[in-house]
Formats: sequence, C-alpha cells, structure tokens
Amino acid sequence: MSKEFNYDVLVIGSGASGLGLALQLPADFRIAVLSKADLTSGSTYQAQGGVAAVLDNNDSAQSHIDDTITAGANLSRRDAVEFTVQHGKESIDWLIRQGVPFTREGDEYHLTKEGGHSHRRIIHSADATGQAIQQTLIEKARNSDNIDLFEDHIAVDLITRHKLNLADNRCIGAYVLDNATGHVEVFKAGSVVLATGGVSKAYLYTSNPDGASGDGIAMAWRAGCRVGNLEFNQFHPTCLYHPQAKSFLITEAVRGEGGRLLLPDGSRFMDKFDPRGELAPRDIVARAIDHEMKRLGADCLFLDISHKPAEFVKQHFPTIYERCLGYGIDITQEPIPVVPAAHYTCGGIMTNQAGMTDVKGLYAIGETAFTGLHGANRLASNSLLECIVYASSAAQHIIDNRPAEDQLPVIPCWDESQVTDSDEDVIIAHNWDELRRFMWDYVGIVRTTKRLQRAKHRVDLLQQEISEYYSNYKVSRDLLELRNLAVVADLIIRSAMHRKESRGLHYTLDYPKTHPEPRDTILTPVNYEWR
Ligand code: FAD
Ligand code: SIN
Repeated sequence: MSKEFNYDVLVIGSGASGLGLALQLPADFRIAVLSKADLTSGSTYQAQGGVAAVLDNNDSAQSHIDDTITAGANLSRRDAVEFTVQHGKESIDWLIRQGVPFTREGDEYHLTKEGGHSHRRIIHSADATGQAIQQTLIEKARNSDNIDLFEDHIAVDLITRHKLNLADNRCIGAYVLDNATGHVEVFKAGSVVLATGGVSKAYLYTSNPDGASGDGIAMAWRAGCRVGNLEFNQFHPTCLYHPQAKSFLITEAVRGEGGRLLLPDGSRFMDKFDPRGELAPRDIVARAIDHEMKRLGADCLFLDISHKPAEFVKQHFPTIYERCLGYGIDITQEPIPVVPAAHYTCGGIMTNQAGMTDVKGLYAIGETAFTGLHGANRLASNSLLECIVYASSAAQHIIDNRPAEDQLPVIPCWDESQVTDSDEDVIIAHNWDELRRFMWDYVGIVRTTKRLQRAKHRVDLLQQEISEYYSNYKVSRDLLELRNLAVVADLIIRSAMHRKESRGLHYTLDYPKTHPEPRDTILTPVNYEWR
C-alpha cells in the first residue's frame, strides 16, 4: 500500500546544496530531504580540494570575479558571478558556524591554490573537504526536529498542477520510489527543491559517484523547465589511472602545491600549451593531456609531487597518499598515473538568483542548476561555493513566499495497473554501458559534427527502447537512472550540435574558432509529456 507524505518543503538531494538549504529554513517549516542511496552518496562527500572564496586581505572580490569569467571563457553571466563571489565569505562563515573543521595554519585558516586562480583562496579540510562538509551538515540535520531524512528514496517525477489538469501551474510534490519496499509514494509539498547533482555518469570514465545520472535535470525538463549550456561537461585532468581505482580523483591542489605533469619519458609539457603551465584552467589542462596521450598512444600521463618533502605531501594530501599506497603507489617517491575523466556539469536547469525555475514552487540549486556562474568551464572549487550561496538565497525566497497549505489538491496514487515486474534487467545494464561509451567516444573532450550526429542517432534509438521498457515494467532505481541519463545525454548532444564554435569545454574540430559574441545555449521543452 503506498503512502502519502505532506511537507512544507521537499528537498530532493542530501549534498551540500540540499542540506545547506534545509538547514537555513526556520524551525516551523516541516522539511523532507531525500537521498537516492545513503546520505553521503552524492558528489559532495567526494570533494577534495576545497571551497573558493575571498578570505585573504591581499585577495579581492574583483580578482575572484575576473578569474571566474576568464576560466569560463567569457560566457559566465556577470551578475551571477558577482552575486556568488560577494556572498562567498558569509557562506564560509556559515559553514564554520555549522562546525566544518577547515584546516588551520597557526591562527589562520590555510588557503590552497588551484588552476585558474590568481590567489590562494581555497579553504579546505586537508584533501577531504567534501567529507568534512557532508558529515557536519548530516549531523546538524539529524539533530533538527523539523527535518526528516529519507535514504534510499528515489524521486521518479515531479507533480505539477498542470499534470493534474489544474489551472495556475505550480510544482506540488513528487512521486518517490521507496527502494526498500518497491512502492512509489506521494510526497506533497508547498515548495520543491531539486538538489540532485550533475550528470557526469553519462560518460564511461568519471570522477563522480554512481548516482550522478542527472535525475533533477531530466525531471525538470519533463515538467516543462528550460535547461542551459549542457554542452559544457567538465573533464577533470587528473583521475587516478589504476585497474582497481574506480573514479578516484587526484585533487588539483596537488598542482597548486607544486605538482608537475609529466609525459611517460619524465618530461614536462604544459608550458607548450599555456603560459600558466600546470595551473591553467581545467579545460586547457584536460585537452593538453588528451592531446599528448593520443599523440603518444599512451594509456595515461603522470602527476609528480615527489620532489616535495615527504612530510609535506602526507600532511597536505593524507587521503590521496593512503589511497595510492593501497594500490602500491608511494606518491612521496614516484609519480601518480593519471587520466582525464568526466567531472562536472556546468549547465543545468535554468534558475535565477533565488534558485527559481520556470515552474512556480520548483527550485533548483547546486550542480543541477544553471545559474550562469560557470560559463563554458567552471573555475576550480567554485561549485561548493555556489551550492551554499544559492542554498541560502533559495531558502530566503521559500521563507518569503510560503504558500497556504490548503492550496494543495488531491494527488492520485502512482498507477501500476499496466506494468509488470521486469524479466530482462540485462537490457538496462547493456543500455547503460552503450550510452556511456558513445558519450565518451563521440561527445567527449574533442568533438566533431559527424561524431555528434552519430551520438544523436544512437541516443534516439536508446530513448525509444527505454520509453517502451518504462511503459511495460515496474520502476527500479536502475531503470529510472537509465531513463534520466538518456534524456540528459540527448540534451547534451543537442546543445553541442547548436554550438557552432569552440569555447571552453566545448571543443570541436569543425568550428575551432571562438565566436566574438558569447551566447548561452538554451533549450525549451515543447510538447513535454507526462506518465
Ligand atoms: P551532490 O552532492 O551530488 O548530491 C546529490 C544528491 O541528490 C544526493 O544526495 C543524491 O542521492 C540525490 N539524488 C539525486 N537524484 C535523486 C533522485 N532521483 N531522488 C532522490 N535523491 C536524488 N567542487 C568544489 O567546489 N570543490 C572541490 O574540491 C570539489 N572536488 C570534487 C571532487 C570530486 C571527486 C567530485 C566528484 C566533485 C568535486 N567537486 C568539487 C564538485 C562538487 O563536489 C559538486 O559539484 C557538489 O558537491 C554538488 O553538490 P550538490 O549538492 O549539488 O549535489
Ligand atoms: C579538485 O580538488 O581538484 C576538485 C576541485 C573542483 O572540482 O572544484
């Protein structure tokens, strides 16, 4: 028997943005926070380098703004950049007040450096900043009487008044699969927040956890929201290359603290590509590594920090040191084998400064949102900052616009009368694999029109197959993720086909030049369907 829940605010996602928002709402708001697996299953827990903000007297907001816009290849929206940077310090202060144990150096917080930053401005907890933030926020949420945490609850689709054939469209909740019981439940809410993270799992090689399947973007698209700049998927230059290491990142802070990128013969090469060398923005470094790997037919390149004192390396990068040692690599003595991997979704659901989407009552924050901050390439450590800044502004908007409870209509139960249990789960696994391979091969670091056309053809076929499957079988986490991945992969390919230039992370051999006038790629859903 499926249940119905009723809350003031439904937050879908328990990462920095979702919990950040929930914890900034007052105690008289009843809040549900969902996570599709355990509360630490998002990217937040994996974050290493830190959070960018202007915290040093020698630094300035203008410098952070300029670095963000330069890294973003002049596509960032200036108002979004200014808004984010100007709220940087108060966001860090909020995290400190929650109890996040940032690394200290004497009386001060230690600030590290990463690619594209012209100052040391990354506050961090050694090389496990995300873990420190995530654990602190979970602890706070667990101790809040007004927040209910639901693990293993997967949002299937948003419920809007239009979908119920009612006037005055508004998001009023979501259908949610309880993975433990297999039942789809109704979560009704006055406001709904998508804090569902990115879609880097669309690629075969990624630094992201398994759940990064773009569910929020797909759900928002199906509910009628526009999406922006999805062609800009960021590839992190340095993920560990080892047969047993699934998705393990080597933080950019290693380069910030003097790490050198090396070819297999031990020579440095970044200066050939950019005067900033190893600390050029991420798109440039990832492309340079990809170029050298293809030129040399190499399986990986190397990142070397072994010229620094062993104690320094162990103190700054304890997690990476231990993890690599577990694979037989002593980073104080030898270079680390690395390859680029899909890392971050720069585009997403279109939002304004309060996190509002095109559908009333529906907010999107964190990596799933497109605020205009990142332009064509995100500046390192600006993501966690964006999560907290927009969690705060969206929370404020929700407080100021609390709807009356009696506005919520009766919502029909999830209809399972036409579907049966799946007897061919192998199809889901096969389609996942196929999608992630062609996205890597055809929509990766270097693109061409022909490759994009091939990818489009394949994603169209996959979507047909998945839609048929979805109509006939009961929903499962794997099926929901595959369905969402295919929707967002299609949006990525369509966005990439629209962009007839190379800019930031979108590099195509057919249009190698950058257009003098920067433009966003905005896709609008027409004839969006509901099931
Ligand atoms: P996430 O933290 O990804 O959380 C998503 C949440 O949504 C999860 O709880 C998930 O279970 C839930 N969810 C998703 N779909 C559903 C659904 N259908 N139903 C229910 N729940 C759902 N950024 C920085 O600024 N600094 C760094 O140092 C840094 N390092 C990084 C290192 C790694 C290895 C990775 C992968 C990313 C890193 N990033 C870093 C990026 C940054 O961590 C993420 O962009 C950010 O944490 C995203 O936070 P979020 O709250 O938007 O989403
Ligand atoms: C890293 O630590 O290199 C990741 C930082 C980021 O993604 O911003």
